[in-house]
Amino acid sequence: MARFLLLYSTVDGHTRAICERVARRIEAQGHEVSQVSLDDDGAVDPVRFDRVVIGASIRYGRHRDNVLAFVRRHAETLQRLPAALFSVSLVARKPHRAGVDSNPYLKRFLAQVPWQPRALAVFAGKLNYPLYGFWDRQVIRLIMWMTGGPTRPDAVVDYTDWHQVDAFADRVAAASFGDEPQGD
Ligand SMILES: Cc1cc2nc3c(=O)[nH]c(=O)nc-3n(C[C@H](O)[C@H](O)[C@H](O)COP(=O)(O)O)c2cc1C
Repeated sequence: MARFLLLYSTVDGHTRAICERVARRIEAQGHEVSQVSLDDDGAVDPVRFDRVVIGASIRYGRHRDNVLAFVRRHAETLQRLPAALFSVSLVARKPHRAGVDSNPYLKRFLAQVPWQPRALAVFAGKLNYPLYGFWDRQVIRLIMWMTGGPTRPDAVVDYTDWHQVDAFADRVAAASFGDEPQGD
């Protein structure tokens, strides 16, 4: 049994929902999971855990500062432990932007931190116009219009491939996770 720390940074709750799915799946395989929001409490120390998973959504072109700050602060521990990162965005609904090598946000993030996660994933997020404030809704509608997505102001679309999420959870829960080559 391994002790997992699952950290998430979310604005509208979708990354937390993905984290919860990952947590249930890891627990079902006999591991212990602690879930912590980076938005409430960035103070948790990953050193007390055997494995770490960080999930973060994109807002206006970048992962939020609390993720960057946490990773920089704990880079040494993260580098030593079997630790994984997943990124959630709407651009990832496009297959050519959904790969760990082709997602611009993930690539930029990894270039900014001294950490090479041992597993990476890019998940398409959720569009939820009714939840957004007026200006955010207009901006996202414009981006959707430019990229061929839904623009009806009441549209709610979950683009996440939950089988892909389960496969990621199985990968980090596997006994062999961490033995794989870095940058895989
Ligand atoms: C104000 C706002 C800005 C966003 N900016 C981007 C963006 O620049 N690129 C992108 O791919 N997705 C963008 N998204 C989509 C979110 O990443 C997506 O909805 C994700 O599921 C949100 O996850 P969360 O609920 O965990 O915050 C944006 C969403 C909102 C509401």
